[in-house]
Amino acid sequence: MEKTETSEEMHRLFNRTAGVYDQTGVEFFVPIGGRLVEFAGLGAGDSVLDVGCGRGAALYPAAVAVGAGGEAVGIDISEEMVRYAAEGAAGYGLSQVSTTVMNGQAPEFPAGRFDAVIASLSLFIWTRGAAELKPYLPLLRPGGRFAISTPSFLPTADGRWGLMPESVHDLLMPYMQPARAAEERTFPFANVADNWLVSAESIERELTEAGFVEVEVREEPLQLVVESGAQWVLWTRSTGMRRLWEKIEQLGDGALAEKVAARLDALKDDRGVITVPVPVTYIRARAPQA
Ligand SMILES: C[S@@+](CC[C@H](N)C(=O)[O-])C[C@H]1O[C@@H](n2cnc3c(N)ncnc32)[C@H](O)[C@@H]1O
Repeated sequence: MEKTETSEEMHRLFNRTAGVYDQTGVEFFVPIGGRLVEFAGLGAGDSVLDVGCGRGAALYPAAVAVGAGGEAVGIDISEEMVRYAAEGAAGYGLSQVSTTVMNGQAPEFPAGRFDAVIASLSLFIWTRGAAELKPYLPLLRPGGRFAISTPSFLPTADGRWGLMPESVHDLLMPYMQPARAAEERTFPFANVADNWLVSAESIERELTEAGFVEVEVREEPLQLVVESGAQWVLWTRSTGMRRLWEKIEQLGDGALAEKVAARLDALKDDRGVITVPVPVTYIRARAPQA
């Protein structure tokens, strides 16, 4: 499959972010990747595919869960991410890890190749519903597991998006409104208005339509801790939200970062840190038994 415009954009975005991705001392991707692996219920000897593996936040714990007798295959559209993921795996001595540059929208593997397919904080970028979920089903053996994590979109029924701290919502969300995002391509992947992840019912419906069974949805808060508002801004810049800041700067609104940081600084507790509860949605399902 040819890369779509969005995947080209993501390819560029994550290639230029990879060097700093998740390297700002804020714990987010690693605990979520670990929790996803737990939730996926991987077993020793399993063969698991991690779609959009980034720098390995879920890939490495998956490799540990399947053990030396299993295999953990990471794919990512960004060559840079794949390079870091492979380097890390070698550094940890995880010889059961292999990594490949591949567009996760059109995974190219033989049918029934994996016991499990996982994707941590990646699939929400390009999936809009059953049609984009279908490609993962044939990769699984009968009864195989499919498990993903996503920043929660569940609260968006009342206009909120979980990843954004409530106190800066009014400052940043205008740059993410669907009309503006579509027009200016501010943040193409946070399709907050029209998204299969907005309710447990639509998650179950779309996965069922894609052919999966035993769908389970769980929302769990992650307590994101930062030392300052500036660190939160820096952290977001080290993630896919970099795209949002770049667009804000292009629009000449660069001073907004300081305003956001100041709002967050007002939330410092007695220990001098800011805790932002981020709801994360974990979803699991299975391929039907043959
Ligand atoms: C927010 S990061 C999550 C990475 C990793 N799973 C983690 O939890 O740290 C999203 C990842 O998806 C990758 N990605 C985006 N679009 C993709 C696509 N179409 N195919 C494969 N990977 C993609 C990005 O390059 C990036 O590494």
